[in-house]
Amino acid sequence: MKSVFNIKDMDLFYSDFHALKNINLNLAKNEVSAFIGPSGCGKSSLLRCLNRMNDLVQGCKVGGKILLEGKDIYGSYDVNLLRKRVGMVFQKPNPFPMSIYDNITFGPKTHGIKDKNTLDEIVERCLKGATLWKELKDRLKKSALGLSGGQQQRLCIARALSINPEVLLMDEPTSALDPISTLKIEELINELKEKYTIIIVTHNMQQAARISDKTAFFLLGEVVEFDSTAKIFNDPKDKRTKDYIGGKFG
Ligand SMILES: Nc1ncnc2c1ncn2[C@@H]1O[C@H](COP(=O)(O)OP(=O)(O)O)[C@@H](O)[C@H]1O
Ligand SMILES: [Mg+2]
Repeated sequence: MKSVFNIKDMDLFYSDFHALKNINLNLAKNEVSAFIGPSGCGKSSLLRCLNRMNDLVQGCKVGGKILLEGKDIYGSYDVNLLRKRVGMVFQKPNPFPMSIYDNITFGPKTHGIKDKNTLDEIVERCLKGATLWKELKDRLKKSALGLSGGQQQRLCIARALSINPEVLLMDEPTSALDPISTLKIEELINELKEKYTIIIVTHNMQQAARISDKTAFFLLGEVVEFDSTAKIFNDPKDKRTKDYIGGKFG
């Protein structure tokens, strides 16, 4: 299986706090990889490194290597290109306070696309890609803020798709949503993995079991175990994984 990200001997410090310790992970193309583990164990920190969102955090230092298709993203990598290739969806839906149409065309416009037909096509492709087209096609000029929470989150996924990323990072994308909206996002993730590589942080173990191909279990800044999701949930190697999956600590 081809890797998209090779993470090698990677460490992360917030000033002198050692938040991620010697991380080694290969994340495969067109798979869903889930990061699970108790709160504060470093899942979001690692996710944010994958498109260098941590660059904005004062005192944050990253050691080791993170290769994206063989190139070190902490080397002389163009960060704008990195963020174009590796899109992100956050915990709380965060549509821009503008129309549905403008939310999706915002990124393409900043990349120089001006032709109206092209922009129309992008909007249709992305809304279809996020299973929103039928629901929203007659209200494209209405404010995105009028949508339900679940629709807003799918719009944020559509927005992330607008600049043709290869990887989608999702940090607890359903934790602010009701069960039905959660299910829709999970179904969507299942469809998206045909075209995209998805890396998702979730505190919901059932969700990881339902949607991911591979699962990494994090504890206190380390990856304890990384394997196929079936293996992690049914026959983990490490006792700490077993205890966590079995609900002995949270
Ligand atoms: N910007 C930051 N500055 C300092 N410490 C941070 C920062 N972000 C996270 N941390 C610390 O790093 C550790 C891992 O946090 P995080 O990656 O958010 O964990 P998780 O997503 O697994 O809950 C925690 O101890 C947290 O307090
Ligand atoms: Mg987190």
